[in-house]
Amino acid sequence: MFHNTRKDSGTAVLTALFLKYQTTMRDFRQEIIAKIAALPQIREAGLTETDVSEIVEIPADPALGDYAFPCFRLAKALRSAPQAIAAELAALLSSAAPLTDGPTPPELSAAATGPYVNFRIDPAALAETLIRSVYGEKDRFGSSGPGAGRTVLVEYSSPNIAKPFHIGHIRSTVIGAAIANILAFLGYEVERINHLGDYGTQFGKLIVAYRRFGSREEVERAPIATLLKYYVDFHTQAEQDPSLEEEARAAFAALERGEPEERALWEWFREESLKEFTLVYDMLGITFDSYAGESFYSDKMKRVTDELEAAGLLENSQGAQIVDLEAYGLGKALIRKSDGSTLYITRDVAAAIYRKEHYGFYKNIYVVASQQELHFRQWIKIIELMGYGWAQDCIHVPFGLVRLKDGAMSTRTGNVVLLEDVLRNAIEKTKAIIEEKGVLTDGTEEAAAQIGIGAVVFQELHNNRIKDYVFDWDKALNFDGETGPYVQYSHARAASVLRKAQEAGLNPDALDPARRKIDFQALSGDAAAALVKLLYQLPAQVREAGERYEPSLLTRHLVDIAQAFSVFYHEERILTDDPAATDAKLALAWCARTCIANGLRLLGVAAPERM
Ligand code: ARG
Repeated sequence: MFHNTRKDSGTAVLTALFLKYQTTMRDFRQEIIAKIAALPQIREAGLTETDVSEIVEIPADPALGDYAFPCFRLAKALRSAPQAIAAELAALLSSAAPLTDGPTPPELSAAATGPYVNFRIDPAALAETLIRSVYGEKDRFGSSGPGAGRTVLVEYSSPNIAKPFHIGHIRSTVIGAAIANILAFLGYEVERINHLGDYGTQFGKLIVAYRRFGSREEVERAPIATLLKYYVDFHTQAEQDPSLEEEARAAFAALERGEPEERALWEWFREESLKEFTLVYDMLGITFDSYAGESFYSDKMKRVTDELEAAGLLENSQGAQIVDLEAYGLGKALIRKSDGSTLYITRDVAAAIYRKEHYGFYKNIYVVASQQELHFRQWIKIIELMGYGWAQDCIHVPFGLVRLKDGAMSTRTGNVVLLEDVLRNAIEKTKAIIEEKGVLTDGTEEAAAQIGIGAVVFQELHNNRIKDYVFDWDKALNFDGETGPYVQYSHARAASVLRKAQEAGLNPDALDPARRKIDFQALSGDAAAALVKLLYQLPAQVREAGERYEPSLLTRHLVDIAQAFSVFYHEERILTDDPAATDAKLALAWCARTCIANGLRLLGVAAPERM
């Protein structure tokens, strides 16, 4: 949540914030809240509109209505039974006699059931506001503006150079990209940062290894695998010949001083690694605005240690310098080693200060594994102790581990499963499925990439991010499960209905209610109404996914939409002899396709037109 979690004053503030930035759709929930809040009994009980907004809920049984107002909290103040109050309120809300703010509009009916006042929104009215908005906003439908004028940094992926880009990195990469997309859709100015692990004493070792037994051609052929091999070989040789370690320290010192030769080698390792990473980013369609990694902050360390010193936070400990965080239950943080070299954590402190000064961020978000929880709590505490009031705007968004189902894939590099191989494997498997099904002859290659990679990304985002999970091929590629291919398929099916309509001389693109009359009553059937309701909720789902940094809320909502579309498609004939009903249903199919496409785009999943 964007909210300061230390003194979260509850959902009220957030709710108020959301309502202020509603899209163009009619906000029925807010209309109901305003009606209730205007009742004399509510005033008498001393409840504000915000209180009412907190009390209003969604009935567990949808048959009861769309919203409910439980009357328990009024009982004491009004000295009456909740059942009696509910009946009284429902009668008042339904009466033709104007209340303080006028009669309840007919599309919002109120009825008492026991201690609850239940509200029902007329399906045609809901369909009307939805369809007007989707046609009006098109590929922007679902967006809203709470972030306007605010810069948010989202740091994600951040692999280490000269190290394999493996399956473990998929989570930060894919979850981070989705969060960045969602926040941009909420109006934030988003900076996507890849904080490459491109600095540290290990590069001294790599330089020595390369000089002693490396070859340029070998590195260029397979950069990361080769550099990794050099690194391993360095350690084997250093066991026989300890002078290598000394040589490596000297090489790193030379790199830190900026000696041209060491610097050039390191830059080359970085470039070659980045080429391999970029291959994967391209497959995923993921981009960054900045690749300022750890090395970028190497010349910004002195300021950090100086400030820590001046604040009296730095302590000597066996020649090294630490910040003691025991008082906060966070142990001791090593800031500078006895040989003067700085550490990962020091670079994070420097990076946060730089980012605040450079970007003036509203929030600075780190999508990094939960194993690094302590690290983040330590350095954010250090920033706070340094006196930076914005420390609390640095937010660690953690996620759990991913494991491949045993024996699911053979690997090129020992027991490390490369992300690139996972994606290629997904494409191959999808191609086999497509060919087996006998669908799609031309464009199989592209479709397999869109569906295969989409399946991997979708499964990744379907899980609540904090949970560990096991990646399962059969599950991810199941066209009937809660999967990417299933949602893509429902999108393609909607697209195909619209194409058919076009072939029959109709024009679904032109069914904008702003330009022609649509018979919304034709969408009152259960299947259509259920679909309308889910599409109507999309903007709120996007907002919540953004506020909670939880793309799975959107992923799951898309599955619900896909399922509802499938029921609608099977139970209602869309193209019928009744032109008015056909138009209305086509307009709804057009909206479903648009909503699914918008949602998939935010998740970074392709939405093929045909499947
Ligand atoms: N390079 C690190 C790793 O692979 C992740 C960096 C996370 N970001 C940060 N600012 N510390 O584990």
